[in-house]
Amino acid sequence: MAEPLLEVKDLRVHFDTDDGVVQAVDGISYGVSAGQVLGIVGESGSGKSVSSLTVMGLTRSSNARITGEIRFRGRDLLQASNEDMRAIRGGEIAMIFQDPLSSLHPFYKIGDQLVEAHRAHTDVSKAQARDRAIEMLGLVGIPDPRRRVDGYPHEFSGGMRQRVMIAMALINDPKLLIADEPTTALDVTVQAQILELIQRLQRELDTAVVIITHDLGVVAEVTDEIAVMYAGRIVEHAKADTIFASPQHPYTWGLLKSIPRLDTPRDEELVPISGRPPSLILKPPGCSFHPRCPYVREAHKKVDPVLEPTGGADPSHKVACLLPSETRRALWSALQSGETPDEAREEVDIPDTLSGSAGPDAGAQAAAPANEEVSGS
Ligand SMILES: Nc1ncnc2c1ncn2[C@@H]1O[C@H](COP(=O)(O)OP(=O)(O)OP(=O)(O)O)[C@@H](O)[C@H]1O
Ligand code: SF4
Ligand SMILES: [Mg+2]
Repeated sequence: MAEPLLEVKDLRVHFDTDDGVVQAVDGISYGVSAGQVLGIVGESGSGKSVSSLTVMGLTRSSNARITGEIRFRGRDLLQASNEDMRAIRGGEIAMIFQDPLSSLHPFYKIGDQLVEAHRAHTDVSKAQARDRAIEMLGLVGIPDPRRRVDGYPHEFSGGMRQRVMIAMALINDPKLLIADEPTTALDVTVQAQILELIQRLQRELDTAVVIITHDLGVVAEVTDEIAVMYAGRIVEHAKADTIFASPQHPYTWGLLKSIPRLDTPRDEELVPISGRPPSLILKPPGCSFHPRCPYVREAHKKVDPVLEPTGGADPSHKVACLLPSETRRALWSALQSGETPDEAREEVDIPDTLSGSAGPDAGAQAAAPANEEVSGS
């Protein structure tokens, strides 16, 4: 595979607050190459936005402690000056923000905002920038762009405004586009159109794209790889096809079982994941997902699993779960045949042994080392 354009290594973003340290991002690593689309999926508060805003240099503040590496075209962005980051933002790396309505200024014409975005990074005349703005509006499917370029944001529908945001993000030919929930506020048909648009532009322009969403269903069609985030960590990462065909993490199963899909029987019940995401100040000991996991064993409450290769057919497939892989496969197969988590747990023998590796702090917490019998559960 090509050298990744963006390579994030062991990124941690912790915020000091009056209530304690918020471990918003807690050691994530991923890469994305030119022309590739990575989906980052997880529930609200899992650290998706913070991790991406950090790539853009937008979480730098006196209460933030940021460690790890963010290599973009070989350079560590965490070491770049604020001035350099300003030049990179909107230029080589562009972002579609989670709240597009607040990103367009209501008092200025769409065209003027696009012209300003272009001229901030490129040495062109106003007339050239306006031509480029019209070209971009056409590219993202705004009808009659020569006229609409002089419209104000309120004259555009939600879906059209989102297209304008995409035009704005792409106007400087970014190498990397980060789209944070680019379709959340839109209805389902428009959602699909916007995703198709991002995918088409990404193919035509060979841009690397990171799409952030809480909805695994949304990114099924457009992503090459998917990273599932839970409580500031990546708990599963694989090719998109693998995530849907043979997911290995109980949280991913929960996400998959809670979305309607075209290829599942109509009468199959959607099962929401019970419980709530944990506090990022006081994370549960051991596996962070254990309070909500239907398959938890006693030892999982003490040992923190690390993300490691599953050894399956997809070499990029990694999972952070302490169950043996054959147990995970048996559970998923039971769930796929329509069983509830309770039924699957009854049917499959879930051993009390630890299979995955323990994380760095496991030594202090662990009642038993990995791969050993754990008594009493
Ligand atoms: N500047 C900050 N100071 C303290 N805590 C913060 C700060 N920014 C974010 N957080 C916390 O970090 C955690 C992760 O937030 P983040 O916005 O990344 O979640 P998310 O996965 O994008 O969720 P959503 O799906 O709701 O957008 C949250 O608990 C949030 O409150
Ligand atoms: S380690 Fe245990 S608690 Fe954590 S996801 Fe795997 S089975 Fe569930
Ligand atoms: Mg977010």
